[in-house]
Parts: sequence; structure tokens; C-alpha cells
Amino acid sequence: MNHEKIQSQLNKLEQTLKYHAKGTRWLFLERINQDLLQDLESLPEILSSISPENSHQTKLQIPQEQPKPLDKPPVNKPLEDQTLVKTPGGGENPSLDPLGATNLDSLRFRTRNCEKCSLSQTRTTTVFGQGNQKADIVFVGEAPGEDEDRTGLAFVGKAGKLLTQIIHSIGLNREAVYICNIIKCRPPGNRNPNADEITACFPFLLKQLELLKPGLIVTLGNVATKALIPEASGIMKMRGKLISFNGIPLIPTFHPSYLLRNQSALPQVWNDMRQIRQILHKRSLNDPSKTHPQEDYSLENR
Ligand code: URA
Repeated sequence: MNHEKIQSQLNKLEQTLKYHAKGTRWLFLERINQDLLQDLESLPEILSSISPENSHQTKLQIPQEQPKPLDKPPVNKPLEDQTLVKTPGGGENPSLDPLGATNLDSLRFRTRNCEKCSLSQTRTTTVFGQGNQKADIVFVGEAPGEDEDRTGLAFVGKAGKLLTQIIHSIGLNREAVYICNIIKCRPPGNRNPNADEITACFPFLLKQLELLKPGLIVTLGNVATKALIPEASGIMKMRGKLISFNGIPLIPTFHPSYLLRNQSALPQVWNDMRQIRQILHKRSLNDPSKTHPQEDYSLENR
């Protein structure tokens, strides 16, 4: 082959390679776009409904499907302490002491058999809390409502569906977080839990948080915030403020039930979630094993 022929073959080869390289790059970009679109499609309507720009025309859309149960409802399934004997005369049974629990299953068992306050007489089932036991973020609500009392799962009613959307707005889903309440039994008629009930149940929550070791706690509403931070002023002043509970960063925000009644408060929750997303993002940069919120797809950055 003479020099010219070789050169022309080389040119052809180069063109072919460039063509394929272009194609590969295009396919690669196409793939990225598709992934991005899928992610964007899965983002909840809440992004648009709670974005400050749209707040004046906000109409909440609560999806109809039931959130997937994460843990099995705690119905008659002894996990340990099979030899448990109720103390005659109703005295304290040491095997039910929350302080003795060394893991969440053990604590759940102790919660299920708790009779420390009169709510144990009216509850259908205890609502311990559920989610990712390695979650970096724990949402703490107030008390189970009717749906929760029936199913044994926290936040599965209307407020729960809104909470799911709020969680989506920080780029996470319910499987990535942990959700529980200040008290584990439903107050009759959904009244606010009283001080005695909160005091009786508090050791269970304390132990739960100690075992979960979250990097961030989000309290939902006044009751949850005051229970963890008694010196806190009202939720109107406290929401969005980064405070500390036993050394764990804590941010209060509005309770989803309040948001269902006061949709004008949604932009404030949006701001709180943006702050939370930034905190989680920074944490995940420092420690990649931690919850990794998705990139910022908020309306204002598009
Ligand atoms: N409200 C709460 O505070 N917790 C629930 O689990 C449901 C509604």
C-alpha cells in the first residue's frame, strides 16, 4: 500500500471512530437525560405547590395510594422476652423498662406491652414508629390518629400523605427516613396528649433516638417540639431554627395536619425543607455513607 492509500485508510478510520465516539457520547447524554426526567417525574407535585412563587394559587393534591408499610404492624408478634410474666398487682415489670432495650425490636416489644398511662386502655394498638433504622434523619410527630391506631403505623392518614410529599421535596423517600411520634398510643378523639401522657411515654422516645442515632431530628409541630425542647417558644417562632437536642441538630417545622388546614404556611415549610436538604447534603459530602439527597431540582434552580 502506498503512502496516500494508507493515509486515506487512516482518515476513514478516524472518521469512523469519531462517528462512534459521537454516537456513544450522544447515547450517554440521552441516558443521563432519561434518568433525570425519571427523577423529575417522580418528584411530587408538592414541589410546585409549595414553591413560594406559586403559593398564592396553592391547591394541595394528596395522592390516593396508601404509603407502603415499612415495618410490619406490631400485632401479636412477640419478638423477645417470651417468658414475660406480668407483675402481680400491676407493679413495674423490669423486662418492660425502655431503658433495658438494647435494640429497636426489643424497645418495640416493651412499647407494645406498656401500661404506663391510661391510653393503654383505649388504644387499638401501639404505634412505635417505622422506617430506615440507619436513617440520618428522623421525623417526630405528635401522636397516632385513627388510621395509625388501626394500622400500627405512624403517619399513614391524610397528614401522613402530606408528610410523604414533604419528605420527597428534600429528595428522599419514606424508606430513607425514620418516622415516629412523641407518644405511642392514640389519645381518644385525637385530642392533644396531656403532660402526664407525654412524661410517661418520653423514655420510649428517648431510647428510640438513642438507638437510632440520627444526624438530624425534625420535629413536626408545637407538641413534638416542646416535648423535646421544653424551653422552646411556640412553633411560629421556632420553625426553621437549627437547635440541638442532646447534641443532635434539630429543626422544628409545622405539623402536616396544621398544613392541611393552613395551606398559606406551605412556603415556610418549603424553606425549612430547603435548609434541611442543605444540611443533609453537607453531611453526605463529609460522610458518603449518610443519606444522600438528590441534586437540587427545586423550581428556583431550574
Ligand atoms: N399525626 C401525628 O402526629 N402522628 C401520626 O402518626 C399521625 C398524625
